[in-house]
Amino acid sequence: IMDSSQSSSDENDALINDLPSAMFWDVMQIKKWQGFWFEPGLIKCAMKFNSSFNAKHDDVLLASSPKTGTTWLKALCLCILHQNHNIPENEDLLTKDNPQYHVQTIESSIYSTKPTPDLYATSSPRLFHTHLPFSFLPDSIKNTSCKIVCVARNPKDTLVSLWHFFNSIFRANQEPYPLEKAVEEFCRGVHQYGPYFENVLSYWLESRKRPEKILFLKYEEMIKDPKGEVKKLALFLGKPIENEENLEKVVWRCSLDRLKNLEVNKNGSVIYGVPNGSYFRKGMVGDWKNYLNSEMEDRINQTTLIKFQGSGLEF
Ligand code: A3P
Repeated sequence: IMDSSQSSSDENDALINDLPSAMFWDVMQIKKWQGFWFEPGLIKCAMKFNSSFNAKHDDVLLASSPKTGTTWLKALCLCILHQNHNIPENEDLLTKDNPQYHVQTIESSIYSTKPTPDLYATSSPRLFHTHLPFSFLPDSIKNTSCKIVCVARNPKDTLVSLWHFFNSIFRANQEPYPLEKAVEEFCRGVHQYGPYFENVLSYWLESRKRPEKILFLKYEEMIKDPKGEVKKLALFLGKPIENEENLEKVVWRCSLDRLKNLEVNKNGSVIYGVPNGSYFRKGMVGDWKNYLNSEMEDRINQTTLIKFQGSGLEF
């Protein structure tokens, strides 16, 4: 006798099986579900999240398309919500583990390579993250007063970051994947959690409708004025940081320079099957100029123009 969750899981397997398929970088099968591409296992997790998650009013959900500044946002929100600013630097939570571990990506539990805390039972205010587009969120998140913070990034830098990241994982001892192909697939949206454009837009549009619920941050603005953006973020989260010294502390503790050089991010520890260190690279605005030729640049610019036209979203 099957219980009802088992039968619905089998139904989901059948549904997922029938979805349109594509290969990502010749290594990973992805499927198109409700307009977005995912690895099949992720779809199952996303379905479970959608049907079973009960939001609490003080939950904070972070949202981002991959490689747009997720790790940074996780670190910042962790420091703002769960850490006393006076804690000595060597006892800081960020020295204990990667931000990706402290703030879990809900639907990525399938990749977890070490025991993870029970997502649903962490201490209040609970802090979670998702790469899923807004439309995929459970109603209890959309309809309660819990807050959402989204970070987005220039599409050309996002693509270049994505390309480096997947090269390091899938092609460590091989030639990098042809960049023109990566650009083309990015523009067609055929990649994990893609299309990037619609994913980002889903949060942008919602944040304009409900600015008290969704804070939309841009990676470029955070790089340009980290203190100003952190101040805004802390205020939004209901934990304002007025003291200049504390503001500087949070910015420094979450900086790429610091995190990248922490032992915990250098010594080969792994989360989601990926070495901790691979979440930190250059953190530069405009690094795309070092990689994309003018055809690739045009291809992404054209796509961006078409997709974001009239939305007010610009990078
Ligand atoms: P680059 O590959 O351009 O260097 P994500 O966290 O969403 O996976 O995004 C990864 C990108 O954010 C990488 O960009 C990485 O270097 C950058 N990054 C990671 N931690 C950061 C931090 N603390 N501050 C600024 N950028 C950071």
